[in-house]
Amino acid sequence: MLGFYQPEKDQGTPARTSPQQVSLTIDGIAISVPAGTSVMRAAAEAGIKVPKLCATDSVEAFGSCRVCLVEIAGHKGYPASCTTPVAEGMAVKTQSGALAKLRRNVMELYISDHPLDCLTCPTNGDCELQDAAGEVGLRAVRYGFEGENHLNAEKDTSNPYFTFDPSKCIVCSRCVRACEEVQGTFALTIEGRGFDSKVSAGGKTFMDSECVSCGACVNACPTATLTENTIIDHGIPEHSVITTCAYCGVGCGFKADFKGEQVVRMTPWKDGKANHGHACVKGRFAFGYTTHRDRITRPMIRGSIHDPWREVSWDEAVTYAATRLKAVQQQYGVKSIGAISSSRCTNEEVWLVQKLVRTGFGNNNIDTCARVCHSPTGYGLKQTLGESAGTQTFDSVMLADVIVVMGANPTEAHPVFGSQLKRRLRQGAKLIVIDPRQIELVNAPHVHADYHLPVRPGSNVAVLNAMAHTIVTEGLHNQDFIDSRCEQDAFADWLAFIQRDENSPEQTEIHTGIPADDLRAAARLYATGGNGAIYYGLGVTEHSQGSTTVMAIANLAMLTGNVSREGVGVNPLRGQNNVQGSCDMGSFPHELPGYRPVSDDAVRATFEVAWGSALDAEPGHRIPNMFEAALDGTFRGLYCQGEDIAQSDPNTQHVEAALRSLECLIVQDLFLNETAKFAHVFLPGSSFLEKDGTFTNAERRISRVRRAMEPLAGKADWQTTLALAKAMGCNWHYDHPAEIMAEIARLTPTFAGVSYDKLDKLGSLQWPCNEGAPEGTPIMHVGQFVRGLGKFVVTEYVATTERTSRKFPLILTTGRILSQYNVGAQTRRTENSVWHPEDILEIHAQDAEVRGINDGDWVGIQSRVGNTVLRAKLSDRVQPGVIYTTFHHPFSGANVVTTDNSDWATSCPEYKVTAVQVSKVNAPSDWQNRQRAFDREQQALLYDAH
Ligand code: SF4
Ligand code: SF4
Ligand code: SF4
Ligand code: FES
Repeated sequence: MLGFYQPEKDQGTPARTSPQQVSLTIDGIAISVPAGTSVMRAAAEAGIKVPKLCATDSVEAFGSCRVCLVEIAGHKGYPASCTTPVAEGMAVKTQSGALAKLRRNVMELYISDHPLDCLTCPTNGDCELQDAAGEVGLRAVRYGFEGENHLNAEKDTSNPYFTFDPSKCIVCSRCVRACEEVQGTFALTIEGRGFDSKVSAGGKTFMDSECVSCGACVNACPTATLTENTIIDHGIPEHSVITTCAYCGVGCGFKADFKGEQVVRMTPWKDGKANHGHACVKGRFAFGYTTHRDRITRPMIRGSIHDPWREVSWDEAVTYAATRLKAVQQQYGVKSIGAISSSRCTNEEVWLVQKLVRTGFGNNNIDTCARVCHSPTGYGLKQTLGESAGTQTFDSVMLADVIVVMGANPTEAHPVFGSQLKRRLRQGAKLIVIDPRQIELVNAPHVHADYHLPVRPGSNVAVLNAMAHTIVTEGLHNQDFIDSRCEQDAFADWLAFIQRDENSPEQTEIHTGIPADDLRAAARLYATGGNGAIYYGLGVTEHSQGSTTVMAIANLAMLTGNVSREGVGVNPLRGQNNVQGSCDMGSFPHELPGYRPVSDDAVRATFEVAWGSALDAEPGHRIPNMFEAALDGTFRGLYCQGEDIAQSDPNTQHVEAALRSLECLIVQDLFLNETAKFAHVFLPGSSFLEKDGTFTNAERRISRVRRAMEPLAGKADWQTTLALAKAMGCNWHYDHPAEIMAEIARLTPTFAGVSYDKLDKLGSLQWPCNEGAPEGTPIMHVGQFVRGLGKFVVTEYVATTERTSRKFPLILTTGRILSQYNVGAQTRRTENSVWHPEDILEIHAQDAEVRGINDGDWVGIQSRVGNTVLRAKLSDRVQPGVIYTTFHHPFSGANVVTTDNSDWATSCPEYKVTAVQVSKVNAPSDWQNRQRAFDREQQALLYDAH
């Protein structure tokens, strides 16, 4: 997969999928293509290149440049091949003397208004204008450059990642169409007419415009007009490696383009099945963190957290770590240590961490950050449908007629899927948004929610129950589906429950704040509008009733028969790149890989034989239990890989106290993150560019991560865990992650058919992949549910104990923003911070006014567990009574305020509901002052190590 750099192949116009094939000849070559295909694309598929400028296969043809003219037998004139669809029996000629002359004349006009600085142009050698001039045989330009031209047009360098140089623009509008069709932002237009026409970002600079820096226009531009700054600085790449984005759960495929060992561009991969050549500002541009000066590249150890760090060899570091862990176990018992695996690491790395805990530590104290995000998804979907994962492909949304987005903000948190969803909505699908906040989808360019149900935080279950109640009592449910696919007794119990008056929209309105009529109308639309697909996020799971909400979603899908085929389904939008994988790989204290209980003797026996080690049958600690046990003195050692619990977990002061009480904290990460400041051993991590492995995205898609450069610290993360395991006495041997995947496949039925060879061949595949589905399973539960019959579960609404009061009258809810990622450790070390340099508190004008708060004021946020200070922004995206912030910056302390309340089934924290008071202040909080002092101390101790 490492190859010399080549621009992505461009077939000229988008593919068509008609079942009807059309046969024609092009330059005498017979070809058959789906009806609706353009002549240009048919030619490209036959290996014939027609010169082109304004056409590209990511957007619909426009037919403006007239370079792609062809001759068609029986047709007058010279039609443009990009806008002419194929027809049965058509005979096309792409080359003739007349065509050559016409094309040369057109090219001559373009070139006469284009700087001829090819030798010094940054994209020299990777320019379609240059190529087209060569293809049409242009040798001279008759018109000269004296006339009116655009050669001195001013550059726009406002965007940190790309430059717009209008002097090179040929006004082909590929960028405008990419922004509209691919990204759905509509930031660009062609202003003016004729000679005066030019590309404009709404009359503003790119930075001041609506642009979200996805880079689709840069990809589409055939000239050097829109060019990545890294290409301007370093020139075009030499070689490329196909890999997978290390940010969100969409799992976009990329070609990492290199010069030597330096990444010069991340090009979204057209064959990436999750992204089809699109990307967002994070994956596309925010890769600078991989070589940031803050990277720690030498292992470090110290006696106490107030000692200076000491840089040591890998051997000394892992020996020291193992000795300390063993000493803890000797003093406090075998269950006094554990580990947290990383949803940012590969499947293979996660596999090794849980194996180390089970065989090297001798217990099940293994958990992962899914605990604090999607653990209710795992639980809820397993109970109802039988498998802890989403049911669809992302592409399935293109067949949805009614789309429900609940507690998710796809255009910010899953941007490439957000763009695909907007495309489907522009095609006419209906949209129901259930969210306390007015997310972008409610009112985006050419996209408007049919219903926005602004649910009061904490009442999701009541909303879903009321939707189900409406569907059942109005007879809109799918009885055939229920009869043939679901457990009848469970359905009867549920039916009796849901029909109760307390679940009606009228009765639940008092909890949800949603007018009964709106809720009824939305329910009718979902039940009767054709294919209904539900997409949900952390606004569903991070509640005291997170698992109940997931089950209520599954109930709704089964009730309407909206599961088990394309265009429908239950779709959790997973947050981090490999959160699905980290769960699949057995990072839970009660489950071995493949979601099989540790208490099951037969399952355990399989692993015991394979691993040559007895396994503990008793479930271990979840993350919150680890903290509790640390504070009560029974849990004393933790190995934390790629997870910043000190910033990401709720009730920061409680987490900090737990971390301080540990006798051995080993942190493996790229940077000295907040958690590492409490550590005794620091093992340098490796970025996704430095290792081989696989990630599994939100659609269960397993994709390869490929090593493109040497690990900066000398070891990839899997090698570090291997070294630690050996130091703990494990007799392991792996030379390459492919061997770990082979072990995963041997021991995990849903991965039985997965191998690196197959992934290389297919590009990616969705589990289950086994004998019954050797190329994977795009849509789950077809024909029957994984658990056999689907199970309706009674979902009684129980209000959270986190209530507003006179002292804490507002509800704080949290979320994410496009430019930053999770705790920000990666994105804060890139130019992305220009868009979001600090976390901001959104507050409705009514709530601000009664407190005398103006836009930009510092405000204190006080909850029952802590307080912090943020800058206020007046916003009508939030409803009165609800305030909102993000948690991307460590000093914001959003999680100082969030509480220990959690989901009843999985302990997933209730981040989305915190009762608070807000007031105007002029100084940081006590916690922020302490945090700053501690940070200064830790930075100084780090400095001493160098
Ligand atoms: S970067 Fe994306 S959002 Fe910005 S103008 Fe280009 S296509 Fe539009
Ligand atoms: S900026 Fe590039 S893509 Fe856009 S009109 Fe100009 S040449 Fe075409
Ligand atoms: S959408 Fe997610 S996976 Fe795709 S480029 Fe953006 S951050 Fe990466
Ligand atoms: S490529 Fe067909 S008209 Fe421009």
